[in-house]
Amino acid sequence: MADIQWTPEGEQIFDKLIQAVPEPMRDGIKPKLLEMLAAKAAGNPVTEDIVKKMVEEDMPEPQRSALMAALGISSGDNGAEEAADDTPSVSWTGKSEIMFEIMLGEVPEAMRGVFRGKLMGVISQKCQGGDVVEDHVLAVVNEIVPEPFKSTILKKFKELGDYDPKIIDDIIARHGTSQDKLMYILHDAQDEIGYLPVEALQAISNKSGINLSIIYNIATFYKAFKMTAPGKHHVKLCCGTACHLHDKDGIAAEIEQTIVQSDDMTMEKTLCLGCCDCAPVVEVDGKVFKGRDAKAKIDSIA
Ligand code: FES
Repeated sequence: MADIQWTPEGEQIFDKLIQAVPEPMRDGIKPKLLEMLAAKAAGNPVTEDIVKKMVEEDMPEPQRSALMAALGISSGDNGAEEAADDTPSVSWTGKSEIMFEIMLGEVPEAMRGVFRGKLMGVISQKCQGGDVVEDHVLAVVNEIVPEPFKSTILKKFKELGDYDPKIIDDIIARHGTSQDKLMYILHDAQDEIGYLPVEALQAISNKSGINLSIIYNIATFYKAFKMTAPGKHHVKLCCGTACHLHDKDGIAAEIEQTIVQSDDMTMEKTLCLGCCDCAPVVEVDGKVFKGRDAKAKIDSIA
């Protein structure tokens, strides 16, 4: 600030401007703003008008509208109030809406209304009247959001489970938020998602207020709950006594190894499958295979 002369009002509004910038960006952006102001003032003291002019003329959108709103500047064409009121309505699909909200969550609360309007405008242009898909939101983050917010948001997107987050909203709406209902909530979540990803447990905790450690302990304690995505094929491997005794060549162990290494199969060890004459015995998607056929079947889908 050494090269800049200020009027009291100019310095005051500049302080207000800096306060409106998200905290993690302040140190980085302040020298750039001072440089821009020095150029605009051309050796004269920086007045309130010069600061406002810099925001209106030199800031990119949507930051410009948000900062104008924070400083109480109105503008005929691009007024912040207009931007907030003129939010287009769009049709969200998949995880696009939750991704949009995650993105907005990184904006300081005081500026969120303006950003919502502006970013919705960009989204609406991208989807051109069609449904908003996840790629539209992703494109906005990559094109508009500055660092460090971009990296934070992209990381949060990656942490979203591979399921529709509305599933958990609906389940909580059905059962309520009491811990007594947790088993029902977990069973419904598993039925609808296919398993219980950690992200779903986190979402249940966030929506219900039930401590995540309680939810996690229950989900991992009961065998009925699965924490990993099921494979394409469900394989039951018989570990009954007769199979164990008849399997002199250790084929069951080979089968087990093949299943464990495959992403396409989920193994369930089980007791007698009722055909003990030719070990080993497996049941693949409800159909039983014995002996060499069992190994051949498993090898064919591994
Ligand atoms: S013990 Fe394996 S089928 Fe009976």
